[in-house]
Parts: sequence; structure tokens; C-alpha cells
Amino acid sequence: MRVLVTGTSQGIGRAISEKFLSSGHTVYGLDILDGTINNANYIHFKTDVLGTLPEIENLDIVINNAGVQASGKDIDVNLKGSIRVTEKYAIQPNIKSVLFIASASARSGSEFPEYVASKGGLVSYMKNVALRVAKWGATSNSLSPGGVTTDLNLRVMTDKEKWQQIMNETLLPKWASAEEIAEWAYFVTVINKSMTAEDLLIDNGEFAKSNFIW
Ligand SMILES: NC(=O)c1ccc[n+]([C@@H]2O[C@H](COP(=O)([O-])OP(=O)(O)OC[C@H]3O[C@@H](n4cnc5c(N)ncnc54)[C@H](O)[C@@H]3O)[C@@H](O)[C@H]2O)c1
Repeated sequence: MRVLVTGTSQGIGRAISEKFLSSGHTVYGLDILDGTINNANYIHFKTDVLGTLPEIENLDIVINNAGVQASGKDIDVNLKGSIRVTEKYAIQPNIKSVLFIASASARSGSEFPEYVASKGGLVSYMKNVALRVAKWGATSNSLSPGGVTTDLNLRVMTDKEKWQQIMNETLLPKWASAEEIAEWAYFVTVINKSMTAEDLLIDNGEFAKSNFIW
């Protein structure tokens, strides 16, 4: 299949691209950075999701992953950028699945104000897309990861004290890897045929953790 992924130069987007490539798909990647994937079936476009978007016809899957946090542009990049990409590439009869990488903070409201607003907006927009692509038999869903061990979080991952505090917050004392999120992305867009308009929380039980006081 022909798959578009945004934010492919590192982290979750690169892991998602590699998962699709290793399964025999063609991946078109958009990133403001140079491409970092060396594979004959990978086509890189060095571009901003808010800039000029290249012409790519007949995509089967569109995965909105590019994102920033506390950048002063969170709503522009994470929300408006994803809307631009989806409206251009996903609203067409060949589409099979659309995916948004949201965030657990869309549910909790914790983290940076514009970031949580951008991700909450994405979850609502994902449902709007599900209503519009259903006539072509396509699904639209989002993943809401809690912590994922990528460069986005180096600040706390390299601080021993903060890392211990974070581990005390999760039910399973760990964060997800980018490769695990890529497996979820593959399952939800390729294997899944019946779930649509849903947001999946993948947070190691951080949201569920509660103490029974008796
Ligand atoms: N890492 C986490 O803990 C975590 C948790 C929940 C959700 N997320 C979300 O997952 C997505 C990927 O995060 P990550 O941890 O891999 O981050 P990352 O910073 O490692 O990678 C993000 C990629 O997006 C690209 N990008 C940024 N702005 C762009 C733009 N305007 N146009 C095109 N590309 C752009 C970057 O160059 C980079 O390659 C983000 O949307 C993030 O909000 C991450």
C-alpha cells in the first residue's frame, strides 16, 4: 500500500515508517529535517506540514505524527498541520485508513496548555474524519501514548531524579518504545477493519493508577 507519514526523520514517525517498509509497503515521508531512512521504497519530502505540500496521488493510509511541544506553535503544527495534511491526502476514494498520533494528555489535561489543546482538538477532528471517510469503507482513529522514549523527552529521560518521579506515576514502571507505538499504528491502520472513530490510550496504566485508601 501507499502510506504517508509525517515527522519521519526521528522518533515515533521513523519507527512507524520502518515498520511499514519492512512489511513491503511504500512510504512517503514529510519532515522539516533531512530524511534519515535509507530504503528504495521510502520517498522523503523535506517540507513543513504548514508549508507547500507535495502532490502525492492515491494514498491508501495517512498517518499524522509530526508534532512539537511547548514550541509556541503547538496548535499550528500539531492541529492545523494535521488538518491540512488530512484534507489534502486522505479525503479521497482510495483511502483505507487515517491515523493521528494524539497524546494521553488530551484526556488528562496535564502537560503544556497549547499542547494538550492541540491534541484534544486532534481527537475531535479524528472523529469528524471518520464520519467523512466511512463511505469509502475507511477507518479513522487516534493513538494517545503516555510517555514514549524518544528525543522529545530527553530532558527528563536524562535526569535521574525526574525519571524516578515519572516511574512512580505509571502502573507498569516504564514508558513505551517508539517501535511498540509503530506496531499499534500498523495494527490499527492495516489489520483493523472494524474499529473507527476511536482513541486508544497506551500509557502503561498511568491514567488508571489509583490508590485504594481504606
Ligand atoms: N514521545 C512521547 O512521549 C509522546 C507521547 C505522546 C504523543 N507523542 C506525539 O508523537 C508524535 C511524535 O513524537 P516523537 O516523540 O517521535 O517526537 P520527535 O521530536 O522525536 O519527532 C518529531 C518529528 O516531527 C518532525 N516535525 C516537527 N515539526 C514539523 C513540521 N512542522 N513539519 C514536518 N515535520 C515536523 C520533527 O522534525 C521530527 O522528525 C508527536 O506528535 C508527539 O506529540 C509523543
